[in-house]
Amino acid sequence: MPWKNISWESPSNIAVIKYWGKYGNQLPMNPSLSMTLSNSVTRLHLYYRPAQRKPSFAFRFAGKEKPEFGQRIRDYLKRLETELPFLPGLDIRIDTENTFPHSAGIASSASSMSALALALADLERMFRPKNPEEEFLPGASRLARLASGSACRSVYPGWVEWGYDPAVQGSSDEYAVPLNHRVHPRYQTLFDAVLIVDPGRKKISSSAGHLAMNTHPFRDARIEQARENMGNLLKSLQRNHRKSFRTITESEALTLHALMMSARSGFSLLHPRTLLIMEKIRQKREQNGWDMCFTLDAGPNVHLLYPEHERAQVKAFIHDELAGFCEEGQWIDDVTGRGPVKLA
Ligand code: DP6
Repeated sequence: MPWKNISWESPSNIAVIKYWGKYGNQLPMNPSLSMTLSNSVTRLHLYYRPAQRKPSFAFRFAGKEKPEFGQRIRDYLKRLETELPFLPGLDIRIDTENTFPHSAGIASSASSMSALALALADLERMFRPKNPEEEFLPGASRLARLASGSACRSVYPGWVEWGYDPAVQGSSDEYAVPLNHRVHPRYQTLFDAVLIVDPGRKKISSSAGHLAMNTHPFRDARIEQARENMGNLLKSLQRNHRKSFRTITESEALTLHALMMSARSGFSLLHPRTLLIMEKIRQKREQNGWDMCFTLDAGPNVHLLYPEHERAQVKAFIHDELAGFCEEGQWIDDVTGRGPVKLA
């Protein structure tokens, strides 16, 4: 039997309200809000055919086998067998590649797992053609969540919310919802310079960090804070309140890392250069009245967020004052993205 192919390109995203802590089957402890990126994407090709004898599975990343990641995907597919009952009857081959450097320390699970979930949702469409079209993206987002929480936000363009919040109609812990229609035009194009402080693997995985939230002394306060920040940040995005956008975004980034440090077995993923960069950004903003601000992922790299009209001056600032703190001067030039694209 010949192989058939489904291919998707899906982007990474950067959260401004952080998902940190989960319960049950990959459900978020608090609502989160992110911006889908444009240039940091995974391209995924899924090949399938009816299983010849015993179903086979193969996984390659950038043309090479990567057993650790392959095993994670295999386990994920196994977990999905009850709801996607056609899966055990197929031979499956998956080839993926990222447009961003593999060792850049950029979270690749959001782009790769959302690309895989979109391909699976597409496959499901072939086996169950009666499913309504408007359920495709919520379904793909839900499947992505089961692989990696932050991946569920990458199936939509622009600003995306995940987790039940009374202020967001249709919001759910099960899947993300698009929010771009509630965002002021000024925030519909926001640049993100990802300053690569340390491209190495994280010492502590996000999963371990989420787990630490279960017994965290500030757990309840954090849930409350995230909800409040969500309400206020949504207002800032809608009404173009720049100062409160910057204040909440930076506070969320610092809180994420403060939560890691104040967990029962505290740890830190920050690098001394992360602190220097954040300080430089704040100083420069004070001096010049610019509108840029920073956020952080679960790692030492700094995301510098800034509006389109500051592009030339911020690029010069990075070149002259920040690139020296980056590993081999590396940084990624990204911007709000239009969401995943079906390639085949
Ligand atoms: C700090 O989505 O990587 O980036 O659900 O265990 O795969 P899993 O975790 P993951 O956590 C990301 C957390 C974060 C904040 C965010 O993206 O909201």
